[in-house]
Amino acid sequence: MEVTNVMEYEAIAKQKLPKMVFDYYASGAEDQWTLKENREAFSRILFRPRILIDVSKIDMTTTVLGFKISMPIMIAPTAMQKMAHPDGEYATARAASAANTIMTLSSWATSSVEEVASTGPGIRFFQLYVYKDRNVVAQLVRRAERAGFKAIALTVDTPRLGRREADIKNRFVLPPFLTLKNFEGLDLGKMDKSNDSGLASYVAGQIDRSLSWKDVKWLQTITSMPILVKGVLTAEDARLAVQSGAAGIIVSNHGARQLDYVPATISALEEVVKAAQGRIPVFLDGGVRRGTDVFKALALGASGVFIGRPVVFSLAAEGEAGVRKVLQMLRDEFELTMALSGCTSLKDITRNHIITESDKYRTVSRL
Ligand code: GLV
Repeated sequence: MEVTNVMEYEAIAKQKLPKMVFDYYASGAEDQWTLKENREAFSRILFRPRILIDVSKIDMTTTVLGFKISMPIMIAPTAMQKMAHPDGEYATARAASAANTIMTLSSWATSSVEEVASTGPGIRFFQLYVYKDRNVVAQLVRRAERAGFKAIALTVDTPRLGRREADIKNRFVLPPFLTLKNFEGLDLGKMDKSNDSGLASYVAGQIDRSLSWKDVKWLQTITSMPILVKGVLTAEDARLAVQSGAAGIIVSNHGARQLDYVPATISALEEVVKAAQGRIPVFLDGGVRRGTDVFKALALGASGVFIGRPVVFSLAAEGEAGVRKVLQMLRDEFELTMALSGCTSLKDITRNHIITESDKYRTVSRL
């Protein structure tokens, strides 16, 4: 049956993948309240479309950290993509390049920065986990830079791994035929089986829980790549990110996999955008499944969005072709949303094109 939207890949992936692998990609933390809310919050935002505007030409291009891309839809880092498909990160990198957009490679990829670079030209960011051993971090950042990666997306919401109960039940572990390729030579590429989620144990052993704002400054001393702080959900932290020299912010709740009962990213976006005061761009990931979601994020001030699970699920279903199709479907839907709202370029998308729950309360209190 023909796939007509990106959500449909999830069911196909579920059929194809071993339960341990599917559950790892699909699950959120604890009650998975935030997982559901990441989607539901989008559905509470409605449009205020404008009519009788010539929409015969629509320009979706944009510039991210100085790099021109075809649309404000980019690929979020998701770990261990070779569990989804043998081509893993290679396929994702090729699909992103073909669509002229940015791919973010996970630290925990099953392909190395050099291998991903070898797939050909493309604008790529590198998602960084800070290990206790700072030599490991420094080496990895240097390798990413040398391999042509253009920015670091620093994950700041994971001093410990969130509690994903499916992974605990399944005793999730990286399958033995795969390695965390970026760490292979550093002897940190394997994950031991444990009585818990193997990944949670790996994080507890290797990831630096003492990470703080001063390390954002430290990172700037070891690389000239711009740093995006990924995992900001409040105005307070948005201001600190600006002060710390970040080049941008990614409003993210880590696909609802870390702290449960944080708001949906689309609900937190506006406060972060206001606090950033236009000094640095603000991006969003979490729950983006429709072109309308992309539009809503831009209307609330995002400079672009990143998609995660749709990439791994489509990869599982159809490899590179699946990821290409996901990017194309979102692009087409976003273009249609722009046309039907009366916007011909991204700068035409304004706060007045949508109405949120908080707008409704404000209107009521004015009456
Ligand atoms: C990896 O970043 C994960 O959330 O599992």
